[in-house]
Amino acid sequence: MPTPRILSGIKPTGKPHLGNFFGMMQPAIAWQERGEAFYFIADYHALTTVHDPAALREYTRGVALDFLACGLDPARAVLWRQSDVPEVTELTWLLSCVTPMPMLENCHAYKDHVAREKVPSHGLFAYPVLMAADILLFDSNIVPVGRDQKQHVEVTRDIASAFNRLYKSDLFVIPESSILPTVATIPGLDGQKMSKSYGNTIELFDEEKTMRKKIMSIITDSTPVEGPKDPATSSILGLYRLVAEESAILQMEEEFRIGGVGYGDFKKRLFGTLWEYFAPQRARRAELERDPGHIDRVLADGAHRARAVAEKTMARVRAAVGLK
Ligand code: TYM
Repeated sequence: MPTPRILSGIKPTGKPHLGNFFGMMQPAIAWQERGEAFYFIADYHALTTVHDPAALREYTRGVALDFLACGLDPARAVLWRQSDVPEVTELTWLLSCVTPMPMLENCHAYKDHVAREKVPSHGLFAYPVLMAADILLFDSNIVPVGRDQKQHVEVTRDIASAFNRLYKSDLFVIPESSILPTVATIPGLDGQKMSKSYGNTIELFDEEKTMRKKIMSIITDSTPVEGPKDPATSSILGLYRLVAEESAILQMEEEFRIGGVGYGDFKKRLFGTLWEYFAPQRARRAELERDPGHIDRVLADGAHRARAVAEKTMARVRAAVGLK
């Protein structure tokens, strides 16, 4: 099998949280050893919600810093800012012209927005088409994402197939999502999916005090200390399983079942383990922060490499549709 091309993106709408890390960043970092990895910071997508220019710039650099601190290796993976490769907006238009409206009307993010009686922007409605352009522009085979993005990858497959059929060509590679079942949906402080829009996140590089406070605020039921507790539905255990050793997980599960330990104690144990787990990444991040020029160089080099691929694809696509 030829070397797979792996691609994924993350929106700079705030600081990366545990959902982003376990759902996408960590799998993406593992993939960089196994194929040609292309990862980008989706600042065009972030514009659907972030309307403060200084904040957008700061979040974008912050995501790059956090991703590098977590182990993204610019020698193996291409890392760039989405807006540094503006070809993606041109491809979005070409894809829009073959995308049926009902397909977009059926997308969860849009439907949730309408259900909350908010007026969606055209950008929010067209969001999945920009995402399809991100993926197709780079001939991506594999897209590592959390479960919430699965539908978007399916839309991408449908758009690519429609385009290929219409223009009687194999112009686009049909991509596949890669979703690891154990990290498909990381729970937040309230037990729902961890998400910035639910305000239930734990950021990777929170200060110690902030992280402890957040962990201690995880919502639980009111079972008393002595009572048995349900290990299957607890967010404390859901998060602990991601960071603790096997034997420690088994022990906590057992203590849940037999009772005698309160949620407060479990939370303290979770905090201690989580804090330890991210110690190497924190050290690396502090080191990277000492050379701010490094991030700029990585992003500039990434933009250059990504753009070279994008230009080739666009030349092919323009010719196929009859522009030029
Ligand atoms: P974004 O920025 O919302 O999230 C980045 C990645 O983190 C994953 N994720 C989660 N995984 C498991 N549990 C959670 N609680 C959780 N929260 C977030 C997301 O599934 C995602 O993989 N539309 C994308 C960005 C994007 C993209 C792309 C991705 C733009 N173009 C092309 C792949 C390919 C998004 O909003 O991700």
